Amino acid sequence: MRIVAIVPAAGRGARLGAATSKALVPVKGVPLLTRAVRGLLDSRRVQAVVVAAPPQEVEPFTAAVRAFGESCRVVAGGADRTSSVRLALDSIEPGSCDGVLVHDAARAFTPTTVVANVLAGLEDGAEAAVPAVPVTDTVKVVDSHDVITATPDRSALRAVQTPQGFAEGVLRRAHAEQAASTDPEATDDAGLVERLGIAVRTVPGDVRAMKITTPFDLAVAEAVLAGQEV
Ligand code: CTP
Ligand code: MG
Repeated sequence: MRIVAIVPAAGRGARLGAATSKALVPVKGVPLLTRAVRGLLDSRRVQAVVVAAPPQEVEPFTAAVRAFGESCRVVAGGADRTSSVRLALDSIEPGSCDGVLVHDAARAFTPTTVVANVLAGLEDGAEAAVPAVPVTDTVKVVDSHDVITATPDRSALRAVQTPQGFAEGVLRRAHAEQAASTDPEATDDAGLVERLGIAVRTVPGDVRAMKITTPFDLAVAEAVLAGQEV
């Protein structure tokens, strides 16, 4: 399968609160973006990577992935994650790949086994495959007054991660439908595909594919990496 990966990296990282855009924040000297792209290419299954950068920062983002040469290019992203993915997707020639992975720059420590699990799902015929892990907290539904209205059965809940994999045409259709609708923004691409009524398969994720969102997450990543040569 010819696989292209999109890396949405155009977010500011408000919750992390760093001086630079989140994707350029270094961990042991290596920016999150560089780590995320390296993880995709290290799988040896991804032919090309397209990064969506903040529109004003295409140059520093290009510098952060220069080491990957022609395998990785940078485009200007959008105002929200969905539009960043769509802009990157629009820059890929239709029909030039069979599958597309969408992988958050913020999930910079995702092991290559997760990439392999997602691609195995696509190869097995799934039109959409996403990594998932069981939820360990009890999750509640609350109303507008923060009063609990329901407790979903935890055994049926999953936390989903990236990379999320899609047959090329499915991802294009999902984003075209979203752009033409007044539906609220989805927080992941699988959500857009679900709205088409297409089955999204879950495959095993990994705790190390955690999203770096807060300073605590960054501290966890630094602690995990301490003493490791990565
Ligand atoms: N993202 C993007 N374009 C946007 C917003 C987000 O490409 N306009 C990307 C982020 O760069 C990140 C991924 O989507 O890799 C997941 O988003 P999140 O973790 O929420 O990152 P931020 O939006 O940057 O963080 P925050 O919400 O705290 O500002
Ligand atoms: Mg965000």
